[in-house]
Amino acid sequence: MLILGLETSCDETAAAVLDTNGEANGEADDRKARVRSDIVSSQADFFAAYGGVVPELASRNHAARILPVVRRALAEAKATYADLDAVAATYGPGLTGALLVGLNFGKALAWGLGVPFVGVNHLAAHLQAPLLAEGAPRPPFVGLLVSGGHTALYAVDEAAERPGLLEFELLGETVDDAVGEAYDKVGRLLGVDYPAGPTLDRWAGEYSEGYGGDSAGPAEGFTRPMPAGLDFSFAGLKTAAARRIAELAAAGGLDDARKRSLAAGFQTAAVETLGEKALAACARTGLTSLIVGGGVAANSGLRAYLGRRAAEEGVRAFFAPLRLCTDNAVMIAARGRRLIESGLRHDLDLEAVACLELGVEE
Ligand code: KG4
Ligand code: ZN
Repeated sequence: MLILGLETSCDETAAAVLDTNGEANGEADDRKARVRSDIVSSQADFFAAYGGVVPELASRNHAARILPVVRRALAEAKATYADLDAVAATYGPGLTGALLVGLNFGKALAWGLGVPFVGVNHLAAHLQAPLLAEGAPRPPFVGLLVSGGHTALYAVDEAAERPGLLEFELLGETVDDAVGEAYDKVGRLLGVDYPAGPTLDRWAGEYSEGYGGDSAGPAEGFTRPMPAGLDFSFAGLKTAAARRIAELAAAGGLDDARKRSLAAGFQTAAVETLGEKALAACARTGLTSLIVGGGVAANSGLRAYLGRRAAEEGVRAFFAPLRLCTDNAVMIAARGRRLIESGLRHDLDLEAVACLELGVEE
């Protein structure tokens, strides 16, 4: 099957063509699917000056970009509209006006071509992304979803009646801020443009490589937020960091070295929380594989900490490839393909859903 994926839930306009024709013996295996194209037109530069995404502007940008992005995805895939066997588009969760652009484009295109259409849950797609990489584990596993809007743990397995289709049981989630959101807010206070996660990650690495040195002393220490059970909380960590930043700024001590030390301290607290909760979820469920998806799965501190701690606990931690951590349309095509193969079709009346839990589209 040649499937076009479309993603416009936030500030990335993305289209990708996934080719599943080469799978051995016709057996569905994400690792064998061929990514024929993967186009992402990010509005991050556009929104840097605003300190965050402005929903109405994001949807206008999507509307202007969707057709050129789809044309590029087809050209790079060396495919034409007529070659497509199916279309999948994100229908939630996300910004309603932004979602509407990709969703309506996808529905109209599928209708015009007379091919099946499915709406894809963005969260499910983030947890499908790691499975496209060589060496990915097979379900069941624990899924850690860490993005700008979500932080949650799931027990993930194949649906009983529909082989290949992942289904999700929520184990725990953030009771306040998502971890990516906390990165972005702390970064903003440190004068970093949106999205701040990648810069704070780099700063934390520079600190541990000695940038802070004697001038900054040890990395700022923050308490690891550990609410009961498998839930997360990042609001307290964010507030503690904000207070420290305000203190230092008032005392005239917020220099580049100190910013690195703050980033390092914040990152240590955040990734240790994520890592320990994910391993607790493995212990509770008895599952020994863990997959990690979403924008913050790109974080080098999380990859290093969880990689090391998982090995100590006899758990295999597997991360989405870097390119597929942040928003993209390959993951939408990969999840859409499974939905279509399981017999699901969506009609033209499928609506965009701003707040969507995992699993309801099936
Ligand atoms: O999954 P994603 O692209 O969009 C959502 O679905 O929300 O995640 C975006 C989030 C942003 O908050 C961004 O700051 C964060 O992921 N992020 C990172 C890193 N790369 C992206 N956070 C920490 N370290 C990174 N390397
Ligand atoms: Zn996302």
